[in-house]
Amino acid sequence: MRVCIPRFLQIGKGGMDSVPELLAAIGGLKKPLIVTDKNMIALGYVDRLISILQASGISFEIFDEVVPDPTDTVIFSGINVLVSAKCDCVIGIGGGSPLDTAKAIAVMSQGSTDLENYRPPAISNAPGLPILAIPTTAGTGSEVTHHTVIIRSSTQEKISCRGEAFMPTAAVIDYELTLSMPKRLSIDNAIDTMTHGIEAYVSKKASLFSDRMALDCLRLVGPNLPRIYKDPEDEKARELLMFAATLGGLAFTNASICLVHAMSRPLGALFHIPHGLSNAMLLPQVTEFSVQSAPDRYADCAKAMGIASTLDPDSVACKKLVQALYLYQENFEVPSLSAYGLEREIFEKSMGAMIDDAIRSGAPKNNPKEPSQEEMREIYEKAW
Ligand SMILES: [Fe+2]
Repeated sequence: MRVCIPRFLQIGKGGMDSVPELLAAIGGLKKPLIVTDKNMIALGYVDRLISILQASGISFEIFDEVVPDPTDTVIFSGINVLVSAKCDCVIGIGGGSPLDTAKAIAVMSQGSTDLENYRPPAISNAPGLPILAIPTTAGTGSEVTHHTVIIRSSTQEKISCRGEAFMPTAAVIDYELTLSMPKRLSIDNAIDTMTHGIEAYVSKKASLFSDRMALDCLRLVGPNLPRIYKDPEDEKARELLMFAATLGGLAFTNASICLVHAMSRPLGALFHIPHGLSNAMLLPQVTEFSVQSAPDRYADCAKAMGIASTLDPDSVACKKLVQALYLYQENFEVPSLSAYGLEREIFEKSMGAMIDDAIRSGAPKNNPKEPSQEEMREIYEKAW
């Protein structure tokens, strides 16, 4: 078993203050490229980071053109800024898109700039520039994963670039930065975290290490997701969900994601449904499909989340899990694909491409039950 994790995790409120120390500890880094989006600028997070850097006499450059679902075109613009400013490292600050963009800039600036060379099964282990990740959402786990998802502009295809080069060197896990997240995004991201925990634990690639991370992730998400739905200002719940997101990231990056993420991917690429939400739309349906192929593993998930009692037999715990996930969808107002506004005709026309893309991701092979194309069609129809 080989485990890949960042060198430093700065965990707790006010963690951003430690950025200068982290840059020094990584190896005397002198000029970071701050990779972010306009929303992070508007929220004042980037100004705060700039003040911290300036107070320590660290010069920097800013690239704030990150878009949701980052494309190779945006990565190239970022690389141009990095090269002309002679930056020696990259700081990603924001949600999954700024972090994924930062990771891609750090790696592709030191290697090939052709996205095709990162298409799976390619693995990029040769180090790029050091990456410092500061997530402001609790969900993607991108701050501790060794992959990044980039869209190829010419085809709109999502390419999941993988390898140790994409693992951040350091991550700042500060829940205070998540307090400004809108309620909908907070819920969807927490369901994304839950999906990471479940998929890592039931994955055919699960290991001793990923199991521990996954179960603790689920122990934290189970009780705290309803708490932030009831009260998005609940700081303790935010703190625990932030840590759960990091544990979920460590779990799935060292195991694998499975069928939910595989089928969710084309919903993002083709219809621009945010990642957390598209997972939330599919999680119960996929779990219902898969649960009988690994009842002991799904039962453990239900027990960790507090959905089932530790005394429940696996069959009972699995039943409770599927029921609870459907109930979450209802209670947390996760829309169906039709309620989200997809047009039926386009949905039907896209079905073949969606299934192809899900298969191409490779993740269905890690699912406890590998679906046929017809079974995938049925799952998408159930989510309609
Ligand atoms: Fe995810």
